[in-house]
Amino acid sequence: MVTVGELQRDARRRLAEAGVETAALDARLIVQHELGLTHETLIAEPGLQVDQTGRDAVNASIARRLDHEPVSRIIGEREFFGRAFAVTRDVLDPRPDTETLIEQVLEIARLKDHLRIADIGTGSGAIIATLLAELGTALGTAVDVSGAALDVARLNATALAVEDRLEFVQTSWLEGVRGPYDVIVSNPPYIETSMIKSLSPEVARYDPILALDGGADGLAAYRAIVPQAFERLEPSGFLCLEVGARQATMVHELMTEHGFLDSGPIPTLRYDLAGHVRVVTGQKP
Ligand SMILES: C[S@@+](CC[C@H](N)C(=O)[O-])C[C@H]1O[C@@H](n2cnc3c(N)ncnc32)[C@H](O)[C@@H]1O
Repeated sequence: MVTVGELQRDARRRLAEAGVETAALDARLIVQHELGLTHETLIAEPGLQVDQTGRDAVNASIARRLDHEPVSRIIGEREFFGRAFAVTRDVLDPRPDTETLIEQVLEIARLKDHLRIADIGTGSGAIIATLLAELGTALGTAVDVSGAALDVARLNATALAVEDRLEFVQTSWLEGVRGPYDVIVSNPPYIETSMIKSLSPEVARYDPILALDGGADGLAAYRAIVPQAFERLEPSGFLCLEVGARQATMVHELMTEHGFLDSGPIPTLRYDLAGHVRVVTGQKP
């Protein structure tokens, strides 16, 4: 028998020695998950004895983490904007940077109640389910070309009790979706195809290719979404797009070419915590 404290320290050491930057956090989340313990119990009772079954389960998950599998995929859950979301192999692991998109829409929501919001490429549903949970009178449409991703989004919407205000549509971008909407959001695939293999193994091997691949220059999804969104927005409606590094100017130009204006009282460019432009917003005249 080992104690939970010893097991956690050993897991942390092995991850740190392998160069995992978040070794302490990952070790804690894996130990908690595999042993069914809360964070509070881990802190308060480091002397708890762990049997061989528990020890094997922790070690198996640590081996997966050492093979670069993200901890959210091992434990099947990721926290986003303070809520837990189920994550499977069919969906992108929601990123903290995407919370910038949530902040942008919450600012728009101060201008108008009862927003009708479409989320294109919803994946786990992290964006639209969070928005509906934050905005009690909003209605949403969650779109994805992947039926498996929509199943995960449905599960997460139900867990957050927002599924009765949300419709799910399996289609490419907004084909066949009529709207109209007050706000359209998307965190589309935006990685240049040739760059995907050089991403960290956590991303390249575990995020679905459909969630990453933005075509030769990374902008294919934006070219499809911008004109379709323009047609489906109400006058004065907003399109808010997450962008990758060095894409903001091109996406902003694309919006302008298709008739969008800068977003008036709402910042056109919104920065993430690292100081990069993360969201570009345009307003339909
Ligand atoms: C970068 S992920 C974003 C997932 C989620 N919205 C998030 O932010 O965590 C992009 C999503 O777009 C979806 N997607 C890719 N091509 C699509 C298409 N042609 N039409 C609709 N969705 C698409 C993928 O399945 C994936 O779920």
